[in-house]
Amino acid sequence: MLARSEKAAQTNAAGASIYAAACASCHESGRPLSFGGVNLGLSTAISSPDPRNLANIVLSGIRSVEGERSPIMPGYAASMNDEQVLALLNYLRARFSDQPAWTDLDKTIADARRRQSAVLQASSGPGPGKASIDPAQRGKP
Ligand code: HEC
Repeated sequence: MLARSEKAAQTNAAGASIYAAACASCHESGRPLSFGGVNLGLSTAISSPDPRNLANIVLSGIRSVEGERSPIMPGYAASMNDEQVLALLNYLRARFSDQPAWTDLDKTIADARRRQSAVLQASSGPGPGKASIDPAQRGKP
């Protein structure tokens, strides 16, 4: 039991420092949009029973809408490993919601990352335009 709670505290310390380094500058700055983030205490992604949205937001970020003044948030897939994302998400859940910890969060994160790299591969494929994404073209040289 002791080892377990020590481990939990460690994870949370890791999550807290990741949050302070990567997220707080936007989410606690009071800066306006486009780069100012919402107060995470209001985030439905963090209080949701399903962590998939949050995993996707942190890995992929939020893209601006072309031609509009819209929010922008960077994605962290390239700069955080799964363990770091796990610590961060557990920290966010504990700090910004009054909901119980998510179960199987590690699986959700691994899954979100797999999907994300599938998307990246599809859109950076060879050939002009998006032709390579056409299912009819799949498997052809
Ligand atoms: C460059 C500034 C910036 C950084 C850095 C940043 N964010 Fe964001 N974040 C935003 C903006 C802008 C939005 C969109 C706000 C909106 O839609 O009104 C957003 C939205 C979000 C949302 C969605 C809120 C919701 O439920 O609608 C979450 C969750 C979130 N950020 C978490 C994080 C976490 C975790 C980090 C650190 C790993 C982080 N952000 C780093 C700017 C940032």
